[in-house]
Amino acid sequence: MRDILEKLEAKRAAARLGGGTKRIEAQHGKGKLTARERLDLLLDEGSFEEWDMFVEHRCTDFGMADQKIPGDGVITGFGTINGRLVFVFSQDFTVFGGSLSEAHAEKICKVMDQAMKVGAPVIGLNDSGGARIQEGVASLGGYAEVFLRNVLASGVVPQISMVMGPCAGGAVYSPAMTDFIFMVKDSSYMFVTGPDVVKTVTHETVTAEELGGAMTHTGRSGVADLAFENDVEALLQLRRFVDFLPASNRVKAPFRPTADPADRLEPSLNTLVPDNPNKPYDMKELILKVVDEGDFFELQPDFAKNIIIGFGRMDGHPVGFVANQPMVLAGCLDIDSSRKAARFVRFCDCFNIPIVTFVDVPGFLPGTSQEYGGIIKHGAKLLYAYAEATVPKVTVITRKAYGGAYDVMSSKHLRGDVNYAWPSAEIAVMGPKGAVEIIFRADAGDPEKIEARTQEYREKFANPFVAASRGYIDDVIMPQSTRRRLCRALAMLLDKKLENPWKKHGNIPL
Ligand code: HXC
Repeated sequence: MRDILEKLEAKRAAARLGGGTKRIEAQHGKGKLTARERLDLLLDEGSFEEWDMFVEHRCTDFGMADQKIPGDGVITGFGTINGRLVFVFSQDFTVFGGSLSEAHAEKICKVMDQAMKVGAPVIGLNDSGGARIQEGVASLGGYAEVFLRNVLASGVVPQISMVMGPCAGGAVYSPAMTDFIFMVKDSSYMFVTGPDVVKTVTHETVTAEELGGAMTHTGRSGVADLAFENDVEALLQLRRFVDFLPASNRVKAPFRPTADPADRLEPSLNTLVPDNPNKPYDMKELILKVVDEGDFFELQPDFAKNIIIGFGRMDGHPVGFVANQPMVLAGCLDIDSSRKAARFVRFCDCFNIPIVTFVDVPGFLPGTSQEYGGIIKHGAKLLYAYAEATVPKVTVITRKAYGGAYDVMSSKHLRGDVNYAWPSAEIAVMGPKGAVEIIFRADAGDPEKIEARTQEYREKFANPFVAASRGYIDDVIMPQSTRRRLCRALAMLLDKKLENPWKKHGNIPL
């Protein structure tokens, strides 16, 4: 028996060593942790249960028969984060560059299947040279098996990708189908075709970092949600992030008791909106002042900054915040902000997370680049997402809510449950100046008349009371009491039940 135990221990030790000391040193030399060190940081101490440590690839071509490393380049299993169950896979770059073989894919699929059965998030730590070149089509098949599970798991359990090294070619499509993509600055990159192929095909010279580094994807493409300084920061923030999410679509998001009183008043909010309607103010201040303990986990802060999205808690319950940001493009909706917010609204709706929307939107951004880029279809995504969402929806209009953008931003008409406005709200088809220029075109040559008409329009429509008189706004509230009113509304909505008509699935404008 002792022999057998020693053999087992030796096999485990071999698996733990992955691609060997030299390659581990090389990994450290690049400022990266190993796949196991990453799991140690991500999961609660001692909670990791590893599966398939002894799985090996089955390839015999290109001398692979004598190159077998137990575990085959990916560490899989389950563990806990702050006591809550998660399934994980962590690709080991020291083993064949973390490349994906048929066996490697089977290991990932196994944890995904189990996560679906028990209802727990799947977290992937990606660090891979892509398809295992020696295995050819078997590897491609493996990828497709993972892709299929990404799709089937979508909306059932949260899926998070942390890209911590290379992720190139078709391999990018697994993270792309997960709910959130995080990246590590300087050591991770994602692209469909690398710099060499780009050079050959389009004659562009670009580095891997420029083409698909963390800054590119969090600032330009919007593919990634956040970029972190290094592996340690990334994994610690991931632990914080998971705390906001429910384990699956079958349960509510986790409640965390708070010392922050639900009825806390915030008098400084009474002066947040400037007297001049064209002056910007920082909408983030409102979020930070109403959320529990000022704890807001913002997503995509460097992409489409004219809209803010992220998670916080209200009286202990996780909430998704969507808010126009008047500091950028005056808070207009455009292609990028519509896509950004639409996907977030849909995530919240999949996973029973109430949505709080703060509105200050002068409309959709005009221009040929927007129209040619398909703002009609992209803006419709946000409209569609809000309209189909059945989770609790609470809206506060702080200032402008003009035109189609008023309808889109979780209005009463799209089944907003509770719609409040601050006294500074202006709810109208368009701003006073634009409106008067159109309906009183005949007076265009008379500035005095135009000024009088503008004033008349402003008094009539640039306030919340016309909408409130129709019941489109449930109440006009004092800015300082926003947290209290939101907490009460959300408490009232805790057991909300609403179902959409049966369908196979809707056809969101893609
Ligand atoms: C097998 C691979 C591998 C791969 C790397 N390795 N990628 N083995 N299949 N795809 C091995 C290397 O042979 C090497 O082995 C070790 O991993 C580390 O690789 P290095 O090249 O030394 O590391 P580095 O210099 O850091 O470069 C990393 C890299 C490079 C940029 C990822 O390895 C690379 O370009 N790899 C190939 C990438 C690729 O073309 N993949 C296929 C993409 S197509 P030793 O033994 O020396 O340590 C694809 C299709 C998916 O993925 C389709 C899905 C639908």
